[in-house]
Amino acid sequence: MRHLLSTADLGRDQALTILDTAEDMASVSGREVKKLPTLRGRTVVNLFFEDSTRTRISFEVAAKRLSADVINFSAKGSSVSKGESLKDTAQTLQAMGADGVVIRHPASGAPHTLAHAGWIDAGVVNAGDGTHEHPTQALLDAFTIRRRLHGAAGRGRDLDGVSVTIVGDILHSRVARSNVWLLHLLGARVRLVAPATLLPVGIGDWPVEAGYDLDAAVAEGPDVLMMLRVQAERMHDAFFPGEREYSREWGLTDERLARLPATTMVMHPGPMNRGLEISAAAADSPASTVLDQVANGVSVRMSALYHLLAGEE
Ligand code: NCD
Repeated sequence: MRHLLSTADLGRDQALTILDTAEDMASVSGREVKKLPTLRGRTVVNLFFEDSTRTRISFEVAAKRLSADVINFSAKGSSVSKGESLKDTAQTLQAMGADGVVIRHPASGAPHTLAHAGWIDAGVVNAGDGTHEHPTQALLDAFTIRRRLHGAAGRGRDLDGVSVTIVGDILHSRVARSNVWLLHLLGARVRLVAPATLLPVGIGDWPVEAGYDLDAAVAEGPDVLMMLRVQAERMHDAFFPGEREYSREWGLTDERLARLPATTMVMHPGPMNRGLEISAAAADSPASTVLDQVANGVSVRMSALYHLLAGEE
């Protein structure tokens, strides 16, 4: 694998290999000395043109646990704010000898351009591009689901027959897109629930069922209920009447939480708007995998960096 740009590019075996290697990486994270020499002498650049806390730190920790040198480059305070183009930035990174570039960018397709324009030799990992994709988030979500269901014994298994309901701001969500392709690839049944204004046009071609009624979805008792953040920063129009209405219709309230089977996992990629798409009690309940997702993110990103940068060794 040369780049990781989209879960739509992955084959089933490739995806399972990444998840299985993440199991190995998780066992390293459980040790007292959490470091492998695998990427010693390699340089990974975190190139973040958009705000991020957990994803950027997660990639940094992952690269460091593999002994890579890590350079954090955030667009704020760099020449990018002076108008330097992606091409110039890429050529600078190339001249500095970057082996891997982890990029987050507000423009959908920027990682693809970086990978294929011929500016750099580095392997490119998409850490979230506009409303397009966030492949490592989907991989860590799949890993989290598999671990909750099977523990480490999940190695080699896909998500055949697992029911996953993704709720909320699908329209603006790269997390939803990457998850839809990956979960479908791994055999899960995916349902989307959102206000009609937040379901993308063309959803009829996606391998999902879509609806508007969260109570109906809760009554089905899915194996996984994945709540998405309301991405107010991407909303330049009114997509729903107000926050109270949103949480009443599409929020995981305490009352809906009480109606879910105890076995349903509650997921959220973070950052959460507590009280809007998810209640504080739901976020902190034993059903919640939110902190598992963060911890698993490191293992999955170690795995992805390993497969991209460690070559055939
Ligand atoms: C997501 C993102 O930035 O796409 N967050 C994340 O990576 N942890 C989801 C979001 O911002 O809602």
